[in-house]
Amino acid sequence: MSAQARSLLNAARPSLRRSAFASARFSSTSSKPTSLKERLAELIPKEIENVKAVRAAHGKKAFGPVLVDQLYGGMRGLPALIWDGSVLDAEEGIRFRGKTIPECQALLPKAPGGTEPLPEALFWLLLTGEVPTPEQVAELSRDWAARAALPEFVEEILDRCPPTLHPMSQFSLAVTALNHNSAFAKAYQDGISKKEYWGPTFEDSMDLIAKLPNIAGRIYRNVFGKGKLPAIDASKDYSWNLANLLGFSESEGFVELLRLYITIHSDHEGGNVSAHTGKLVGSALSDPFLAYGAALNGLAGPLHGLANQEVLIWLRKMQSTIGEDATDEAVREYVWSTLKGGQVVPGYGHAVLRKTDPRYTAQREFALKHLPDNKLFKLVGQIYNIVPDVLLEAGKAKNPWPNVDAHSGVLLTHYGMDQMQFYTVLFGVSRAFGVAAQLIWDRALGAPLERPKSYSTVAIDKMFKDKA
Ligand SMILES: CC(C)(COP(=O)(O)OP(=O)(O)OC[C@H]1O[C@@H](n2cnc3c(N)ncnc32)[C@H](O)[C@@H]1OP(=O)(O)O)[C@@H](O)C(=O)NCCC(=O)NCCS
Repeated sequence: MSAQARSLLNAARPSLRRSAFASARFSSTSSKPTSLKERLAELIPKEIENVKAVRAAHGKKAFGPVLVDQLYGGMRGLPALIWDGSVLDAEEGIRFRGKTIPECQALLPKAPGGTEPLPEALFWLLLTGEVPTPEQVAELSRDWAARAALPEFVEEILDRCPPTLHPMSQFSLAVTALNHNSAFAKAYQDGISKKEYWGPTFEDSMDLIAKLPNIAGRIYRNVFGKGKLPAIDASKDYSWNLANLLGFSESEGFVELLRLYITIHSDHEGGNVSAHTGKLVGSALSDPFLAYGAALNGLAGPLHGLANQEVLIWLRKMQSTIGEDATDEAVREYVWSTLKGGQVVPGYGHAVLRKTDPRYTAQREFALKHLPDNKLFKLVGQIYNIVPDVLLEAGKAKNPWPNVDAHSGVLLTHYGMDQMQFYTVLFGVSRAFGVAAQLIWDRALGAPLERPKSYSTVAIDKMFKDKA
């Protein structure tokens, strides 16, 4: 180790042993209700030193070989990104700052009378590595309610969209248009110093998350003819307000479902299409609205977020083809007919996971508690016993187990939200939490422009053809 690396490591030793996050990992913050921005301002300088020390100590170490197959194979498994907020284990699934979904359900503050974690708390956890106090969470709910209004021209953009335009395209249009009032874009034009980037990025990210319920609610009501939007209630939490804007706040079950839904859909480490797109576009110093608009366009693809819509369409088609109480044999044949038609079974398989997605399990447990006798839920359970065997027999999919999208539509349908084209919008509201947290840390840590190297097939062939 060089002398410079050693001195950096020594200087940062306390933060390496007890890094800004590790120190707080399984504890609550003090009951003093500091704001999230104040807490971040305390954590950022420590983490900058921590990263400097880690890079000085390990920056020149190799991760191992890169295979040519990885260049052609969608970069699967290529170590290429840093994101501390969440890490995905192939066997265990997602951990948010080291915590599993059941741990988050147990530890994060809940609404009065509620049992699911509040997404406000998850956002605090993603950003700081700390479990917030109920007061800190309530402050975040109030802050987001105060920022929730949309500029009039964004409302007009949404109102002028034809109802036949997919809700995800409308969503991405509205989020992109919010860049009109970006604090970061303005500060950049005014010559802000690099060291200060995270401040306006934080403000934009808070505005972005806060305005999503009004965007989602407006799209839902415009497209599906559900009347005028109610006002935001500053005394209620984010999920209650989202449910209210959608017209479902009278169902306590639906509100609880949204709290769980947003929490488990918020982040899935850094490399998935939406998270990585947000990070990539943000690396060009595009503001959080532009970066998240781009991320939403990735989420709208059927192999990513749109799979939740595809699952419901597939289930409904199955029911209309083989009936509501079909035998296992009929379901198995239907699954085979999907594969033989050259289509994927939506909601199954994953690029990283190799076991049942714990986000699926969390939703299954919710269903067992709230809708055990629902027919569609029973079909989802029946499919779970059939599809993995079929996929294994077909022999292609590396992971035959269900992912998050296999279950979410059934829960929403149970509460009366049966407009499948809207489902990915709810995923998009949730994923903003992870992407925004990542953007804030990227600007705080001075993450550079992303620019990996591409090669031509001619060059690859030339490089390796004479090598054994
Ligand atoms: C998620 C997904 C895109 C991951 O892709 P991946 O990392 O390339 O997955 P694999 O390495 O296991 O793919 C190997 C092969 O199995 C196929 N496969 C994977 N999952 C499959 C599924 N659910 N149904 C049918 N075939 C599947 C792939 O299409 C691929 O076929 P190919 O060799 O003809 O191209 C893939 O599993 C899929 O399309 N699932 C259905 C859509 C879905 O649920 N998306 C949401 C993910 S959270």
